[in-house]
Amino acid sequence: MARKEQIVKQSWKPGNVLSPLPVVLVSCGGTENWRPNIITIAWTGSVCSDPPMLSISVRPERYSFAIIEATGEFVVNVPSLPQARITDWCGMVSGSRVDKFAEAGLTPAPALQLACPIILECPVNIECRVRQSLPLGTHTLFLAEVVGVQVTASLLDSRGKFRLDKAGLLAYGLGQYFALGPVIGSFGFSVRKRRRKK
Ligand SMILES: Cc1cc2nc3c(=O)[nH]c(=O)nc-3n(C[C@H](O)[C@H](O)[C@H](O)COP(=O)(O)O)c2cc1C
Repeated sequence: MARKEQIVKQSWKPGNVLSPLPVVLVSCGGTENWRPNIITIAWTGSVCSDPPMLSISVRPERYSFAIIEATGEFVVNVPSLPQARITDWCGMVSGSRVDKFAEAGLTPAPALQLACPIILECPVNIECRVRQSLPLGTHTLFLAEVVGVQVTASLLDSRGKFRLDKAGLLAYGLGQYFALGPVIGSFGFSVRKRRRKK
């Protein structure tokens, strides 16, 4: 019988070590008073199924913070590998100084439900309306309801299933960007009966 390897642990000070996270491009603005802007966000997550809700955490000093506070809406655009460099860049410069859509060569396209544009090049666009904002400390959590979703049609298979595995999505953790690996199972695969080979 194989012996279990001993696992040795080290204590770290409490911190944000949860990894991997999705890294997303949040578009905001696009109303009379606010031109469209993009902010890179790693602190995001789904929080409720019905109504569908997600959260983003934004530092109040970000230019995008004022826009989201004023307009009460934003779009979570999920980038793919070709947008990795742009994703990093949108997190390095401020929309108070540059037009990130123009500089990055990204296309603002109409959302289904919001005045705020989606980023056309991103395979998934999740339109969100802010329901609550919660100051936590360094960051304010925006709790938002998903009011519209668009996906790039060329990523659907013949049955209409969205091929996430073909989208080439990114992950982020401990300061590094990762490409996602292959599909290794689907929801419930651990309890599903295997088909016997004849
Ligand atoms: C990978 C990555 C993840 C980031 N995640 C967050 C985040 O979750 N919340 C936040 O407030 N800023 C985050 N930032 C920093 C902002 O994207 C950055 O300050 C940006 O320039 C702000 O743009 P703005 O001034 O146009 O709003 C992140 C940056 C990078 C590169």
